[in-house]
This record gives sequence, C-alpha cells and structure tokens, in this order.
Amino acid sequence: MLKKVFPKDFIWGAATASYQIEGSPLADGAGTSIWHRFSHTSGNILNGDTGDIADDHYNRYKEDISIMKHLGLKAYRFSISWPRIFPYGKGKINEKGLDFYNRLVDVLLDAEIIPFVTLYHWDLPAALQDLGGWMNRDIACWYADYADYMFQRLGDRVKNWITLNEPWVMAFIGHFTGEHAPGMKDIYGAFSVVHNQLRAHSKAVKSFKEENIKNGKIGITLSNSSHDPATDSEEDKRAAQLAHEWTNYPLFLNPIFKGDYPTLLKEKVYEYLPNNYQKDMQDIKEEIDFVGINYYSGDLIKADSNSFLGGKNVERGLPKTEMGWEIYPEGFYKILKGVQDEYNPKEVYVTENGAAFNDKVEEEQVHDESRIEYLKKHFEKAHKAIEDGVKLKGYFVWSLLDNFEWAWGYSKRFGIVYVDYKTQKRIIKDSGKWYSNFIKNNEL
Ligand code: FCB
Repeated sequence: MLKKVFPKDFIWGAATASYQIEGSPLADGAGTSIWHRFSHTSGNILNGDTGDIADDHYNRYKEDISIMKHLGLKAYRFSISWPRIFPYGKGKINEKGLDFYNRLVDVLLDAEIIPFVTLYHWDLPAALQDLGGWMNRDIACWYADYADYMFQRLGDRVKNWITLNEPWVMAFIGHFTGEHAPGMKDIYGAFSVVHNQLRAHSKAVKSFKEENIKNGKIGITLSNSSHDPATDSEEDKRAAQLAHEWTNYPLFLNPIFKGDYPTLLKEKVYEYLPNNYQKDMQDIKEEIDFVGINYYSGDLIKADSNSFLGGKNVERGLPKTEMGWEIYPEGFYKILKGVQDEYNPKEVYVTENGAAFNDKVEEEQVHDESRIEYLKKHFEKAHKAIEDGVKLKGYFVWSLLDNFEWAWGYSKRFGIVYVDYKTQKRIIKDSGKWYSNFIKNNEL
C-alpha cells in the first residue's frame, strides 16, 4: 500500500481543558466556576466525582509538559479558566491566576511546543451565572473584555486562539437536557445561549483584530457528529439534514460566514430564536482565521415526529467506544470535506478526536490497541481530506491525559497518557508511544 505522507509543517498535538485536568479550582484567589458548583451538587456527576483534584495539573504542569516533549508533540491545546483571571467574571483581576498561565506558556515555549489557547471551555465564573450567564445579552461584553485582557497579557507569546469550545454543547447539554452545568432545562434559554455565544465570539474576534497581534490567528471550535439518513426517503434525508444544521458546524458557521442561521433549521426553530435576533446578524458575521473541528462518532438518523426537530438515532451495528459512541471514520471525512465545501474556511484544525476505552494497567503498561486502531483510521481519513482539498493544518488528539469527563466523572479514560488518580502517577499508554513514533515519521 502506498504511504500516506502528511504535509511537512503539519501540526500534531494533544488537547485538554482546564476544569478537566487542573484541580485546585479555588487556589490562589480563583473564583468559583459553574462546573465547580455543578459537580458539588449531589446527583449531577457519576460517583459524586468533582474536579477538585483531577490530574493535579495545576501543580504538575511541568511534569506534564516534559511528557509532551518526550512524546514529540508539536503543539498543545489547553483552556484558560476564566474565574482564575476574573474571580467574579468581570472587574477585579486576579494576577495570581494569570501567573499560572504565564508559567505554563513559558514552559511550553521553552520546550518548543506551540500553545493553542481556548478561552472558554465551559467553566463560566459562577458570579456571572448569577446574573443570567449566557442567557444575559451583556455576556457578549463580559466575555469580550476577558478575551481582550488575555490577548493583551499573553498575545506576545500565544499566537493561536480559540474563542469557544463546542458552543452547541454549552447551549443544549447545559441549558436544554441539563446534564452539564449550569443544569438548566429551557429550550428558549438554550437558543438564546447559542445566539449570545455567537455575539460574544464575534465581539472577541473584533477586539483581537484591533490588538493586532503579530502572526496571531483566531478561530472557534465546534462539535460534530456525522448524520446519515437511515433510508433514501425524503423524510429521513430532511431529518438528517436538520440534525446536521442543528448540532454540527452550520449552526455557528452559517452566522459567522454568511450572517444568518442555516435555512432548514431557521424555519423549524424560528419561535425559539430570541426576538429581533436578525438585528445582530451583521455584527456576528466576522471573518475568522480557522475553524476547529471536534469529531468523535456518527449517527444514523430516522425521521420521527415525536422527537425534537423530527429525527432520532437508530442502531446500525457499528463497533462502539466506551462512551457508547459509534466508531465511524467515514463520517469524519464527511465533516471535514463538508466544512471546506460549505464555508471554505482559510484553515481547518481538528481540535479534538479520540476515544475512551476501558484501559487496564498491566505491569506498568497500558496496551490500548483499540485506541491505536481508532486513531489510525481517523488519521487516514484526515489524510484523504487533505488530498481532496481540505485546508487541514493540524490535529489535536483528545486527550493528553485521562481526566474528568464531565457528567461521567473519572469513569471514562480518553488519554494517551494514563493517570492513576490515587497516586497521580502518569503512564504513557501504548497509544501514546505509537503517536510519538507516528509524529516522527509523519506518515501512515
Ligand atoms: C468534547 C469536549 C471535551 C471532552 C470530549 C470527550 O465534547 O469538548 O471536553 O469531554 O468531548
């Protein structure tokens, strides 16, 4: 078989998020986040787990960066915890919180690892939630002020910025199903959260441009799962298209690139959108430098008049990961090709892709063959996407470390590095070793 060689300057990395790995959520003057509150409310997280200790990365970041260096990662995507910087979300600044990220960035640069910073990966300052959080229109200003402050303080060293991580999940799992913080069940609220995240994102992008950061790039990271129609019937095709417009990149990219919500979706959910939302669309339409794609699995969609937006997932018997998510690399290709064809972004990054499996430690080793297989198959599709014109520039495996998997607590392991939560010992899994070797060769 012909070798699949990736472009020479392709950026291979790994990703994490603040609340999932850092621990010490209230250290050094940090404010409470909605995830701290949510995980400390019984019944919300499996086994009553919290992010209080997590991977203790707040204290062990140097060790973790030396692991990254040892693996040969070219870049690292991490997120900043907003309440560490602004304990109340706005106003008073906490320099000690900023110091942590200053040190993190400096040690990364010393190790020649490029930092990719996510400004918001779901840990909103709780003080802002008390003012309505993402449902309050003022959040566009609160967020843009926070973002601008970070551009000023880290922009001399951090060149790659991601405004929001998976705003769909924030809106609908946080405000409609209530499985994530802040745990609300309000469909009108959820659509206002979509809209205000878009407003906040574009406002931050505008101030980023004003800061004029040398070589700076800014984008947004979106959740995706490929939605195939169960049959060729018009009903199933429409249901799959609606699911695509609602849960994938179009919900956010259509406004950002075209200044309007996607067509079918808009018809369907018109009554849920905020009053006079149209007057914001011109402001929301704002050029970005790249699109971040997160992809884990696919779904087969059948029309179903009883379900929200008229579609439900049906079984197709594909193998699944420990999350119960279908392994469907073909869908990854469709999402990558789709985003390029539909919106033609200047650059695309895979900002998350990976899998949870039931890893076991055997004599200080973790033989996670299934994860290696998963990654290989998805790398192959990424390669095909590049060959077919997708401007894919980099790829971040989720995740560097096993970590706090939100409502699932510590029960799901996504890392290429195993974490023993009792001792905080790290063990590079076979997938980590495989990835390291793969990066050296840059080919499959
Ligand atoms: C994504 C999240 C990330 C992680 C993975 C498994 O939705 O962005 O934090 O939990 O799923």
